[in-house]
This record gives sequence, C-alpha cells and structure tokens, in this order.
Amino acid sequence: MKPSKTRTPGARKSQEMPAAVTRRGFLNGLWAVLGLAALAEFLWLAVSFLRPAKPGRTESQADAVVTAGALATFAPGTVTAFQNGAFYLVRLEDGGLLALSCKCTHLGCTVPWVEKEKKFLCPCHASAFDITGSVISSPAARPLDTFTVTVENNIVKVDTGRRFKRSGFDSGQPVYPPKARS
Ligand code: FES
Repeated sequence: MKPSKTRTPGARKSQEMPAAVTRRGFLNGLWAVLGLAALAEFLWLAVSFLRPAKPGRTESQADAVVTAGALATFAPGTVTAFQNGAFYLVRLEDGGLLALSCKCTHLGCTVPWVEKEKKFLCPCHASAFDITGSVISSPAARPLDTFTVTVENNIVKVDTGRRFKRSGFDSGQPVYPPKARS
C-alpha cells in the first residue's frame, strides 16, 4: 500500500511559517522604524517649541529694534506673534499697543497665545495670562515681561533690546498711537 500524501493542517502551517514570519517580521520592522521616525520628529518639534528663546539675542544687539509693520494691520483685540524677536504684539480693544515677551515668567517656557480661549497658556506648568499678559493662573507669579513699543508714521516698532518686568498691568503701559490729524 502506497503511503498517503495527505497533510494535516498543522503540518501545512509549519511549512508556510517561515515565509509568513518573514513577511510579518518585515512589516513589524517597517512599522517600528516609521513609528520611531514619527516620534523623533514629534520630540524635535516639542523641544523646539518649548525651548526658551536664545538668551542674549535681545539684550545687546544693535539691531534689536524690530519693525512690526503698519499700524492698520493690527486690528483691535488681536495678538500677533513675532518669532524673530520672540514677542507678541498685542492690540488692545481700545487701540493700545503692548509688546509682550513670549517667555513664561515661571521658568521661561515659550507661551503660545490660544485664540479660542483668548489667553496665553503655558504648556509647561499651566500658567495662564490674559491679553495684557497679566497672570490668571499660577504658578507664574508675575505678568509677562514687556518691550518698548513706538509708533512712527503709522509704523509700529518694538525694541527687543531691553525687557521690562512688571508686578501688574496698569493703564500707563500700553502705547497709544498719535491721532491722525484732519
Ligand atoms: S514655565 Fe510656564 S508655568 Fe512653568
């Protein structure tokens, strides 16, 4: 009698196993590499975002005055980020201008403006600041620092060469553009 050539399901599986393992292993490896690349990119972006601005850039350079732009481009109630000078130009509802430092006064993380909530929200330890830079939530103990704003010929300029610390916001801090003569 001739021996039967029938295979049991287990025997067939074991013969196909090496190819399946190889394909699966390759795909797993590919996913692992793609996952690591995505993680690395995310970490790089997170570090870039959270790293405080380079110290000294604004302290001593002669070109510390940043031309922000034409006054008319800053509508009341808006916040405009200037990454080159690491500041926000705030146009208050009453037309006043404030230049606020992007650095959190707690430990120096970069603080983004969250338009939806109309607040500066620090991602590091959850300090919050209102549009004037005043503290809404600790641990930050004092408002965002300011820079000097000037308006000449309807052009707004910010001197990032010197940062001013404040204990609070008062009406003397915003700069009001000279009224246009009729
Ligand atoms: S650095 Fe902003 S809350 Fe700590």
